[in-house]
Amino acid sequence: MDQVPANVVLMEHPLIQHKLSILRDVRTGSKVFRELVKELAMLMAFESTRDFQLAETTVTTPITETTTWVLAGKKVAVIPILRAGLGMVEGILELLPAARVGHIGLYRDPETLKPVEYYCKLPADIGERDVMIVDPMLATGGSAAAAIEFLKARGARNIRLLVLIAAPEGIKAVAAAAPDVKIYACAMDSHLNDHGYIVPGLGDAGDRLFGTK
Ligand code: PRP
Ligand code: URA
Repeated sequence: MDQVPANVVLMEHPLIQHKLSILRDVRTGSKVFRELVKELAMLMAFESTRDFQLAETTVTTPITETTTWVLAGKKVAVIPILRAGLGMVEGILELLPAARVGHIGLYRDPETLKPVEYYCKLPADIGERDVMIVDPMLATGGSAAAAIEFLKARGARNIRLLVLIAAPEGIKAVAAAAPDVKIYACAMDSHLNDHGYIVPGLGDAGDRLFGTK
């Protein structure tokens, strides 16, 4: 996929690309992997909130009174898709400390690759918040599309999806299921292999984060 699809914002910042390369490396252990996922999520939070609204305010500096700017838009809800999405939450909260965190528990059935829901707990006012779904991997797109569907059914409207690596298959699936949802990704990879893993990807994000394999 040479061109960036209309529903994708590719984060090409050099720091992001450098950290992503170390993350992909098979020799990177869980401790460094976790640190990098957190740092990448923080950089993504910075880059993906460029469209947030500002309002004018007045501040008195030690020198004089001046007009300046503060965030004015809706409050934010960060929704990690369990379990790998958890690795991105802390980095986002470093920049958006007032955000609420909801959780959606989904796993891919290893045979069918279809998402299975096992947990959902969201902020009560989800419909009034800017929603950031976070998950390191967008592979078939089944998990992301299911999470978007659950969130919309519970009233969420303004949803963006932050992933570290996206496969073309997943981008297409999200575009078809939810054309209103913008995908922020650090990289668009080549394709999925026969087991539904992203190529070249980084392997199993959850296992590498939590050392379960
Ligand atoms: C991984 C990943 C995504 C999903 C992506 O989670 O974190 O949630 O797969 O695949 P998809 O786009 O084909 O749905 P996994 O199901 O391995 O669960 P885990 O986070 O508990 O490891
Ligand atoms: N989930 C992962 O963790 N990695 C992939 O490559 C695909 C799905």
